[in-house]
Amino acid sequence: MSLPVVAVVGATGAVGVEFMQLLEQRNFPMAELRLLASSRSAGKKMTFKGKELTVQELTENSFKGVNIALFSAGGSISKKFGPIAAQAGAVVVDNSSAFRMDPAVPLVIPEINPEAIGQHKGIIANPNCSTIIAIVPLWPIHKLNPIRRLIAATYQAASGAGAAAMEELRESTRAHLEGREFQQKIIPHPYAFNLFSHTSKIDPATGYNEEEIKMVNETRKIFGDPTIRISATCVRVPVLRAHSEALNIECDRPITPADVRRILATAPGVRIVDDIEKNYFPMPKDASGQGDILVGRIRQDLSDPTGKSIAMFVAGDQLLKGAALNAVQIAEYLVR
Ligand SMILES: NC(=O)c1ccc[n+]([C@@H]2O[C@H](COP(=O)([O-])OP(=O)(O)OC[C@H]3O[C@@H](n4cnc5c(N)ncnc54)[C@H](OP(=O)(O)O)[C@@H]3O)[C@@H](O)[C@H]2O)c1
Repeated sequence: MSLPVVAVVGATGAVGVEFMQLLEQRNFPMAELRLLASSRSAGKKMTFKGKELTVQELTENSFKGVNIALFSAGGSISKKFGPIAAQAGAVVVDNSSAFRMDPAVPLVIPEINPEAIGQHKGIIANPNCSTIIAIVPLWPIHKLNPIRRLIAATYQAASGAGAAAMEELRESTRAHLEGREFQQKIIPHPYAFNLFSHTSKIDPATGYNEEEIKMVNETRKIFGDPTIRISATCVRVPVLRAHSEALNIECDRPITPADVRRILATAPGVRIVDDIEKNYFPMPKDASGQGDILVGRIRQDLSDPTGKSIAMFVAGDQLLKGAALNAVQIAEYLVR
């Protein structure tokens, strides 16, 4: 395509702001950037490449002439406006869960299945942030020695729940330290100096919440392997930005920590942070603001005498690789 017109839907949100920074930093080729949000933000000015752009209200007419639409305004907005944008001729890269499990929609992590991008029919889905952060480092292992079972526990940051949740963590922490009452509005539990099970809906039949089930189903779709067995426990922790996860994998054949280090040393989008002497391992503070998934605590799982299991700890910026960066990487494939 000639230089595309790009729209960011949800430009004022936590992910939307990252979209704009990435498009600028990576000098994404485009003829025009259109910023869309709700009527609340219409008229707001945002800066892109030193120029002020005005946020417009998202309407059914917003996509005339748009070639690429990066959506991050929630599932219901994607469900309604994604097909409208695609109908108007845009390729939609959607951050919500609206289309991820639709068999006709590619679910893409460019380090894993970039070939799926070419199969789109107007909409491409960006996976769930916890899924992306877990499986970018697991894929190169899976390719060489298939992972039969994954057990994951997440430590998810406030930013995963949007800009307002980050503000609520700051405000409730301040109130807690000053001994003031705090009435939470966004997060249903006291957040300062606390942690709680991910607040997505629990399926009474299985006891798993939606975030956990997303990790199961999305990993199977992206790996193209419906047989991989996965159990996740998703927890929100009082960290502002970047998710961490404890991962435990069981492979088809024996595997050692040295094998894993060798495989991950050259894996795209992965950086090993595993300094045993200094006790320095992946932390959300180091994962924040950069695009790699940090991997450490790589060790043999002593509970599996067959030698097929590895434990590790990972951290990744879910606003970047877990959302905006992954989507911009997909968009970069579209303009190649
Ligand atoms: N945060 C993450 O780490 C992450 C990771 C992966 C995927 N996602 C997904 O990305 C989406 C946005 O997440 P976020 O964290 O950026 O949320 P957020 O900070 O709450 O931002 C929401 C954005 O959506 C816009 N919006 C809300 N209602 C709208 C409407 N009726 N019409 C048009 N725009 C509307 C908001 O605009 P106003 O400012 O006008 O309200 C804002 O720009 C969600 O689907 C989320 O699941 C988020």
